[in-house]
Amino acid sequence: MGVLLGLFVGFGLVLVRHQLDSTFSDVDDLRRFSNLSTLASIPDIRGGWFDRGRTAQLPTMTDGVSVASEQYRILTLRIRIMIDRECAQILLFTSSAGAEGKTTTAVNTAFALSQIQQDKVLLIDADLRKPGVRGCLTQVANGRLGPPEGLLGLVNSPGGLAPECFGRIGKLYILASADGSADSLRDVSSESLRKTLAKLRKQFKYIFIDSPPLLPMVDAHLLADLADRVVLVVRANRTRRETLARALQSFDMSKVLGFVLNGVDYSRARYGPVYDNYVKAYTTSTKPKRGAKFQIR
Ligand SMILES: Nc1ncnc2c1ncn2[C@@H]1O[C@H](COP(=O)(O)OP(=O)(O)O)[C@@H](O)[C@H]1O
Ligand SMILES: [Mg+2]
Repeated sequence: MGVLLGLFVGFGLVLVRHQLDSTFSDVDDLRRFSNLSTLASIPDIRGGWFDRGRTAQLPTMTDGVSVASEQYRILTLRIRIMIDRECAQILLFTSSAGAEGKTTTAVNTAFALSQIQQDKVLLIDADLRKPGVRGCLTQVANGRLGPPEGLLGLVNSPGGLAPECFGRIGKLYILASADGSADSLRDVSSESLRKTLAKLRKQFKYIFIDSPPLLPMVDAHLLADLADRVVLVVRANRTRRETLARALQSFDMSKVLGFVLNGVDYSRARYGPVYDNYVKAYTTSTKPKRGAKFQIR
């Protein structure tokens, strides 16, 4: 009786938890929620307990044969086809709330894009209150990443765009901000921001902007207005439906290119075995070089 009762209560608790969970665990969940397309499903990129550092954050740079970097390349290719078709240049990465993977997605896709074509790609860190690009790149790259003012430095300087404002890894140019260098874009007039972006449009074929989340502040709304297209990052098993719905209601949906479902647990997905096979068949002989660093110029 005791065992049966225990099983019954356990089963009931699992059921209640499942009912209360309003997050998305896979692409099908997102499809049922919205008509917007899901551009990619990025796996959870944290390694084992010994590898839970930030180096795992940039698989496109540190582990080119991993499932994650292949998924980032697929995402990049889809984005490129879509924005080329409409001659769009500026793509904003945002999400409903924080820590959903905007910076990780923006840096990986910008780097992957710089690898698959000839033109210059610019990555701007416009999350001025919580900049992440500088920190995540310095884990895998040596060199200068330009002055701490980043985007605000350009907006506030009436002159041209000095080359020393940017860091560069191959064809990827980086305009990074540093912690505490600025409050937010709130006080910047959209006109001066628009003018700066107009200058940048002439220099770069693609401009990817990493931005703050949509719900708590105005910055991403301001940037979305100036961008050509927007990518919404949704964190698997973390972003709640209510939160995402509210974020979607709060701004111009016509610009949204689609979702990126980030941090999916592939081992639980129905298609998981396909990737398992990929790992076994293709990646065992090519282990990533630990500690290899890129040079920022
Ligand atoms: N696909 C992923 N799998 C596992 N961890 C991830 C993934 N994407 C991001 N993270 C981790 O989540 C945290 C927040 O990511 P970040 O890109 O900084 O989010 P945001 O820019 O939205 O605040 C970081 O610690 C990052 O390493
Ligand atoms: Mg960020």
